[in-house]
Amino acid sequence: MKSLHWFLLLLIVAFTVLRIVEAQNQAGFISLDCGLVPTETTYVEKSTNITYKSDADYIDSGSVEKINDADKTLVQQPLWALRSFPEGQRNCYNFNLTANSKYLIRGTFLYGNYDGLNQSPSFDLHIGPSKWTSVKILGVTDRAIHELIHVLTQDRLQVCLVKTETTTPFISSLELRPLKNSTYTTQSGSLMLFNRVYCPSDSSSSVIRYDEDINDRIWDPFFDNDIVSISTDLQVDTSNIFDVPQAVMKTAAIPTNASEPWNLSWTLDNNTALSYVYMHFAEVQNLKANEIREFSITYNGGKIWYGLFRPPKLSIVTIYNQIPLSSSNGLFNFTFAMSVNSTLPPLINALEIYTVVDIQPLVTNKDDVSAMMNIKKTYGLSKKVSWQGDPCAPQFYLWEGVNCSYPNSGPSMIISLNLKESELNGTITSDISKLTQLKELDLSKNDLSGLIPAFFADMKLLTLINLSGNPKLNLTTVPDSLQQRVNSKTLTLILGEIQNPTPQKESKKVPMVAIAASVAGVFALLVILVIVFLVMRRKNAETTEAPGPLPSVTSGTVKNETKSSNLSIMTKDRRITYSEVLKMANSFERVLGKGGFGTVYHGNLDNAEVAVKMLSHSSTQGYKEFKAEVELLLRVHHRHLVGLVGYCDDGDNMALIYEYMANGDLKENMSGKRGGHVLTWQNRMQIAVEAAQGLEYLHIGCTPPMVHRDVKTTNILLNERSGAKLADFGLSRSFPLDGECHVSTVVAGTPGYLDPEYYRTNWLSEKSDVYSFGVVLLEIVTNQPVIDKTRERPHISEWVGFMLTKGDIKSIVDPKLMGDYDTNGAWKIVELALGCLNPSSNQRPTMAHVVMELNECVALENARRQGSEEMYSRGSGDFSRLSSASEFAPGAR
Ligand SMILES: *[C@@H]1O[C@H](CO)[C@@H](O)[C@H](O)[C@H]1NC(C)=O
Ligand SMILES: *[C@@H]1O[C@H](CO)[C@@H](O)[C@H](O)[C@H]1NC(C)=O
Ligand SMILES: *[C@@H]1O[C@H](CO)[C@@H](O)[C@H](O)[C@H]1NC(C)=O
Ligand SMILES: *[C@@H]1O[C@H](CO)[C@@H](O)[C@H](O)[C@H]1NC(C)=O
Ligand SMILES: *[C@@H]1O[C@H](CO)[C@@H](O)[C@H](O)[C@H]1NC(C)=O
Ligand SMILES: *[C@@H]1O[C@H](CO)[C@@H](O)[C@H](O)[C@H]1NC(C)=O
Ligand SMILES: *[C@@H]1O[C@H](CO)[C@@H](O)[C@H](O)[C@H]1NC(C)=O
Ligand SMILES: *[C@@H]1O[C@H](CO)[C@@H](O)[C@H](O)[C@H]1NC(C)=O
Ligand SMILES: *[C@@H]1O[C@H](CO)[C@@H](O)[C@H](O)[C@H]1NC(C)=O
Repeated sequence: MKSLHWFLLLLIVAFTVLRIVEAQNQAGFISLDCGLVPTETTYVEKSTNITYKSDADYIDSGSVEKINDADKTLVQQPLWALRSFPEGQRNCYNFNLTANSKYLIRGTFLYGNYDGLNQSPSFDLHIGPSKWTSVKILGVTDRAIHELIHVLTQDRLQVCLVKTETTTPFISSLELRPLKNSTYTTQSGSLMLFNRVYCPSDSSSSVIRYDEDINDRIWDPFFDNDIVSISTDLQVDTSNIFDVPQAVMKTAAIPTNASEPWNLSWTLDNNTALSYVYMHFAEVQNLKANEIREFSITYNGGKIWYGLFRPPKLSIVTIYNQIPLSSSNGLFNFTFAMSVNSTLPPLINALEIYTVVDIQPLVTNKDDVSAMMNIKKTYGLSKKVSWQGDPCAPQFYLWEGVNCSYPNSGPSMIISLNLKESELNGTITSDISKLTQLKELDLSKNDLSGLIPAFFADMKLLTLINLSGNPKLNLTTVPDSLQQRVNSKTLTLILGEIQNPTPQKESKKVPMVAIAASVAGVFALLVILVIVFLVMRRKNAETTEAPGPLPSVTSGTVKNETKSSNLSIMTKDRRITYSEVLKMANSFERVLGKGGFGTVYHGNLDNAEVAVKMLSHSSTQGYKEFKAEVELLLRVHHRHLVGLVGYCDDGDNMALIYEYMANGDLKENMSGKRGGHVLTWQNRMQIAVEAAQGLEYLHIGCTPPMVHRDVKTTNILLNERSGAKLADFGLSRSFPLDGECHVSTVVAGTPGYLDPEYYRTNWLSEKSDVYSFGVVLLEIVTNQPVIDKTRERPHISEWVGFMLTKGDIKSIVDPKLMGDYDTNGAWKIVELALGCLNPSSNQRPTMAHVVMELNECVALENARRQGSEEMYSRGSGDFSRLSSASEFAPGAR
C-alpha cells in the first residue's frame, strides 16, 4: 500500500478541439488596485488591457497610501497606490466565490517608501488560517510578486496579511484568475510559484501575460549561456488543458553545445518542500526526412523523468509529475540527453516549477463564519481589529470576544460570544440564531432596541444571555417560549438588576415544563445507560476475541479467509459517509502507514478490523487513482487480492476501507522490521505462489484483463496467518483484448520494478507485471535491495546474474535462512525470476506459467520438510543449470 518511492508522470498532448475564445474577456478575473481612491474608480492598464478597480469592497480595514511620485515612472499604475495595515495583527481580504473552484492568486508588493520611513517591511501572507508565504521587501523599488494556485475549500476566500515584526504589512495589487480544475493538480496542499519561464528568441523580450495568456500567468524570459533559441513563425497547436500562449510555445531553447548532455538545475528556497514541475514542449524546427530529435530526461543522478521522447511537430506536449518530487538539499538537476538515433539536440519551450504549501483543512464551520460576518456588518464592528479572517482558526488569531470549540476532527464552532460595550445599536440580529453551538451570549451595555427575540428559546445549547444595560430594549415582553426555558432553569436570562422575572400568569405552567424536563432527563439517562452497556459489551468482545501476538506460520496449508461474514453489512452499498468513516477509524487514532496518496489508519467495523486509507484531504488529487481502485475492486474479487470493504466519496473526503492485513507488507517482513521473526523458506514459497495467483487472476480472470502496474514487495500484504494478498490498484489499467492500443501516455511504476521495455516504448501489457514480479521473486530469495548503488551491480537482477556466474546459489540466498531451504527449489525460482526479467516481453512467461512453477517449488519444499534429506543435500549446482533447462532463459543484459 505504500507508494512513497515512485512518482507518476503525466504527459498531456494537444487535442485538436474547438477553443472557447470567449475566455479572452477577463471572465472571472478579479483585479484589485489596492488603495485606489476614489473607491468607485476603474481603469484599463495600458500594457495589459486588464481592468483594475479599487479593493474597497473586499476589505474593511487598513489605510490608503501612495508611493513617491518619483517612483511612479518606474512601475505600472496598479502599483502606484497601496493599502497598509498599521492596526491589528491580521487583516484580510474577503472574496465571495465558489467552493472547489481553482484560482491563481497573485499579490504584488511595491514599497516605494510610501511612509517615508525607508524600511524593508517583512510580514506573512495567509490563505484563510494557513500560512502561504513570507513577504520580504528588499528595498524601496523592489517589487515582490507571490503567486499561489489554490482550490477553495469554502464559498469564501480570505487572503490575509499578518504582522510578524515591527514593520507594517501592505499590499499594492491583488489579482485572482480562475483556472480549470483539471490543471495543476496536487495530491495535497496548494501550489506556490517558484519559477515560470519561456525561452525567447530575442534578448529584448519581456514578460508574457494577459491577453496572450488567457489565464494571465506571468512568463518570464529565460536566458543562459548554455542555450540558444530556435523559433518558428508558424502557428503551434497549443490546445491542451494548460492553455500555454502561442508566444511562449513558438520559441524553444536548445543547448549551445549539441554534443554534450544538457543540464538544467535549480535549488528551491525551502529544501524540504515538495515540488511539481511542468515542462512544455513542441518541435518548432522544420525537420528534414533524415533528422530526428529524440532525447531522454533524467534528474538528480539518473532518476527517470521521461524515457525517449520526440517533441511533436508544432504541437504542445506537457510533461509533469503527479506525485510530488523532493530532494534532500532542494537541488533539482535535470539532464536532457540525446538518444543514439537522434541527430538533433534536446529542446524545451517552457518550464514551470511550483512548491507545495500545506493548507490547514480545519477551519470554522461555514455557517458560523457567515453569521459572524453578517453580525460584524450589521453592527459596524470593523473597529474590532482582531475581527479579520477566520473567527476561530488559527487559535492564535482568535477573534476578540469569541470562543470556539476545537474538535479533533470537523470544523470549529463558536461556543461563546461576548459583545459587551461594543456600541451595538438597532435590534438584536437573527444571525445570532445561526450560531447553533452557542452556549453563552453577552450583549450587555450597548444601545440595542426593540424586542427580545423568541429565537433564543430555540438555541438549545444556550445557557446564559446577558442583555442588561441596554436602556432602549423592551424588557416588558419576554416571549413565552423563552420564559419556559428560564422557568425550567435550562437558561439564565439577565435583563438588568432583576434577573429571571417570573410574571404571575406564567407560574402555573411551570410544573408542566418541569415534568416534561424530567421525562427528557430520564430518557437521556436511559440513552447513557444503553451506550455504557454497549461499550462494555464491545470491550468484553474485544478482550476475549483479540488475537495473540504475531503468530508464526507453521503450516503451509493454511488458506486465508477474510472475516467477510462480519463485514456483510457493508456489501450491499459499500459507499459510506465521512462521519461513518470517522467513527470507524476511531477519529484516526492509530496510523498504520503513509502512502503516496494519504495516510492509512486502523479502524473497527462491527468487531472486524479494517484499514482505512484516507486520501489527501484538501484536494481532489489522486482522485483518478482513487476511482480506478474503487471501480476495480468493486468489480474483481479474489482471495489473493486485498478486498474492499467500503469507500467514502463525500465531498472533499475520500477514503478506501480495506480488509485489515495484520502482518503488514512483505518488504517489512523481509527486512525484519516487524520483530525478529524471519520468514521461512516455506512461508516465502507460499507467499510467492499466492501473490502470483492474485496477479494471474487480474491478467486472465478479469474481463477486460487488468495490468496492476505497480507490483512490488510493499504492495504484497500479509494477513495474520501470513496469507498474501496483492494491494494498491490505484495505477491499474484494463486493456483491450485485441492486442491493439496498448500505448499509454503515462509511464508509471516504481524504479527498479519498472519494465524497461514498457518504459522505452510506452507499450503496456501484462508482461510488464511479469517483469516486476520477477524482481519480487529475486527479493524473496535473496532479501537484497532492488537497487543498491554501493553494489558492483546496482540492480538486483544484474547482481544475481553476476553472482551466479560464479556458480553458487548459496551466495545469493538470504543468509537469514541459515541454509534451511530447498536448493532445487531455489534454483528453480531463480531461473523462473530471470525468465520473468527477460528484456524482451514476449520471451517472458505468463503468470499462469509462473503459478505452475511456483506450485512445484512449494511441493519441493513440502517434500523436503517431510524429511527427504537426500533432496535437501543435493544440487548446490553450477551455472550451467541456468542456461540449460529453462525455456525462458535470461537474455543478455
Ligand atoms: C488593448 O486594446 C486595444 C483596443 O482593443 C488594442 O488596440 C491594444 O493593442 C491592446 N493592447 C494590448 C497590450 O493588448
Ligand atoms: C456572498 O454571497 C452570499 C450568497 O450568494 C450573500 O448572501 C452574501 O451577502 C455575499 N457576501 C458578500 C460580502 O458579498
Ligand atoms: C470545477 O469546480 C467547480 C466549482 O465547484 C465545479 O462546479 C465543477 O464541477 C468542477 N469541474 C470539474 C471538471 O471537476
Ligand atoms: C562541445 O562539447 C564537446 C564534448 O565535451 C567538446 O569536445 C567541444 O569542444 C565542445 N564544443 C564547444 C564549441 O564548446
Ligand atoms: C518548507 O516546506 C515544508 C514542507 O512543505 C513546510 O512544512 C515548511 O513549513 C516550509 N518551510 C518554510 C520556511 O516555508
Ligand atoms: C548536474 O549534473 C551534472 C551531471 O549529471 C553535473 O555535471 C552538474 O554539475 C550538475 N549540476 C549541478 C548544479 O549540480
Ligand atoms: C535506432 O534506429 C534503428 C533503425 O531505425 C532501430 O532499429 C533501433 O531500435 C533504434 N534504436 C533505439 C535505441 O531506438
Ligand atoms: C446606529 O448607529 C449608527 C452610527 O453610530 C447610525 O448611523 C445608525 O443609523 C444607527 N442605527 C440605528 C438602527 O439606529
Ligand atoms: C414593548 O412591546 C410590547 C409588545 O410589542 C408593547 O405593547 C409595549 O408597548 C412595548 N413597550 C415599550 C416600553 O416600548
